Amino acid sequence: MEKIIIANHKMNLDLNDVNNYLEKLKNYKDKFIVFPSNIYLPYFINSNYKVGIQNIYKDNFGSFTGEVSPYQAKKLGVNYVLIGHSERRDIFHEDNELINAKVKKALENNLKVVLCVGETLEERESGKTLEVIKSELSAIGEHEDIIVAYEPGWSIQTGKIPSNEEIKEVVNFIKKCYNVKVLYGGSVSAENIEMIKSIKQIDGYLVGGASTKIDEFIKIIEVACE
Ligand code: PGA
Repeated sequence: MEKIIIANHKMNLDLNDVNNYLEKLKNYKDKFIVFPSNIYLPYFINSNYKVGIQNIYKDNFGSFTGEVSPYQAKKLGVNYVLIGHSERRDIFHEDNELINAKVKKALENNLKVVLCVGETLEERESGKTLEVIKSELSAIGEHEDIIVAYEPGWSIQTGKIPSNEEIKEVVNFIKKCYNVKVLYGGSVSAENIEMIKSIKQIDGYLVGGASTKIDEFIKIIEVACE
């Protein structure tokens, strides 16, 4: 089965970088889904990349300055959306209630949802990992056609990743609760992709920082697709 590879650019890259990226990755554009900053979405869409949006609001229209709606994104040509990323949960204080509402609205607009779940270091150390994941998974409800990304908050941008056994435990737990595809995200790099790939239960990878480094990202795609 082909792996799902996601490039999450977060709030990185400028217009020159984006043009360079479009050119250098053009032979790989069928192999991954790119989640750029909102202002660069049309560049990727017009170049026929598979495109996702990093966040959306829970309504289609209204007075919500600065927000983008699932309806607007879909109309533009976006097909995927990340919901519940740990940066949204931690920095922007999004709770499960808001996240659940976003998931519902995204699905109504026929966006494919990538729901991010994951524990903090404190939660892991106090043995609460599966409990936290379970409550974050509640957004799935009856909608099993969504993709789940397991991203431990303590692994994002830190270079630290859980052991294969720890990843397996969570991925198996998610798959036992719901019939969904599960990705791993958190410090995925050209160095560790081989090791992560040995975990057969994982359906793909969500790559942040390393997806903005063109040469490294190409290496990751090549190993993931071998
Ligand atoms: P990272 O980010 O690969 O830079 O750790 C992953 C993510 O936050 O999606």
